[in-house]
Amino acid sequence: MLSEAYPIFVVGQYLGLINMSRYKKLLGDYAILPIMFFEFEMERFQSLYENEVDFNLSDSGVHPLTINDLLNEEEMRHFLNMEIGYGYSQGDPTLRHNISVWYREKNASNILVTNGSAEANFVMAWSLVNPGDEVILMLPNYMQVPGLAKIIGADIKYIYLQEQSDWHLDMNELRSLLTNRTKLISICNPSNPTGAVMSAEEMKELADLARQFDVYVHSDEVYRGSELDGNETKSFNEFYEKTIVTCGLSKSFAHPGLRIGWLVADQALITEMWAHKDYSSICASVLSQEIAKKIMQPETRKQILSRSTKMLSSNLQLFQDWLNSHPGLFSFAPPQAGGMAFVGYQMDINSTELAHKLRTEQSVLIVPGDCYGMDKYLRFGIGSPSDYLSQGLNLVSECIQQLGY
Ligand SMILES: Cc1ncc(COP(=O)(O)O)c(C=O)c1O
Repeated sequence: MLSEAYPIFVVGQYLGLINMSRYKKLLGDYAILPIMFFEFEMERFQSLYENEVDFNLSDSGVHPLTINDLLNEEEMRHFLNMEIGYGYSQGDPTLRHNISVWYREKNASNILVTNGSAEANFVMAWSLVNPGDEVILMLPNYMQVPGLAKIIGADIKYIYLQEQSDWHLDMNELRSLLTNRTKLISICNPSNPTGAVMSAEEMKELADLARQFDVYVHSDEVYRGSELDGNETKSFNEFYEKTIVTCGLSKSFAHPGLRIGWLVADQALITEMWAHKDYSSICASVLSQEIAKKIMQPETRKQILSRSTKMLSSNLQLFQDWLNSHPGLFSFAPPQAGGMAFVGYQMDINSTELAHKLRTEQSVLIVPGDCYGMDKYLRFGIGSPSDYLSQGLNLVSECIQQLGY
């Protein structure tokens, strides 16, 4: 494994994430600047092992459908006859329209299609955050934005979600962190890894605070639509005008392999972020966009989200029963959305060590809390078919017994 952080020396006037004009004043026309690079531990951990195990319980989404499940005969014929050219770099107009319908008072000009939500997060961070900018990030979190902010050299303040508050944001703490230098607050709602969902009142409170300090709010909403009680959470852009939403088809919509994501923001910001996206990937695949158009048609969208909700709520019950079969070993604030369960454990073993033991001895993959900087926690994916989940959990039980618990 790579070490957590290491310097890369760059020479030049402009490089990747960093606009070096800021450093030219200090270092002359050709700046030499060490950039710290931080490994994205969770993504690397998953990509190294997720295809190597019998039971991958590390995913946070819902088991995918096939192209056959999605397209009817006529759509399939059209799909098979498509020319595989470049698409629109900002995203297919019909797709952008279909996406925009899922948001209040938004139209195609408020949408930029990306390669997964990961690219949406990347483009957001690259467009908005400069070295030295003050940003507030909530932890634990899908660790991409924290990693990017560190690489960019932002001045980061963390706000830690607590299990005893069911992983909800403490608005007083947030208020105490905000200053007139704060540029951006980044949230993940519903949250990865906790599955907590902010209420409309909490979102309003956050929007009021953001407005008071005139900061941008980035809201990663890739788990929106998989609320276990079927009540879809509102998008943060309904509450606040300076919101940048990132989202995509990988989690609630169950189609990570399409690599379709998007940004939602006001038109000026979309134009700004589109200019950055031209440098990152040009456009998303036309084939994926064709399928995504179908997924985001209102009727299909509702059917897919309802399938996700059904699968997740019955699996959560199964998972809860499994936890109960190990009394005293786990603490758990159940998720309100998303295909994951974040549990604390009382066993005398480090989370990474436990995850590797499970992987090598039982061929089961789960995400260690260490990936979130939270040892003594584990993230289990609960979005797979029930029998697969239950077989995987039985193997975890065997490992727990071997450990003497
Ligand atoms: C909160 C969050 N945002 C973004 C992503 C990236 O997802 P995508 O597959 O859409 O790129 C993930 C993936 O796990 C995630 O959990």
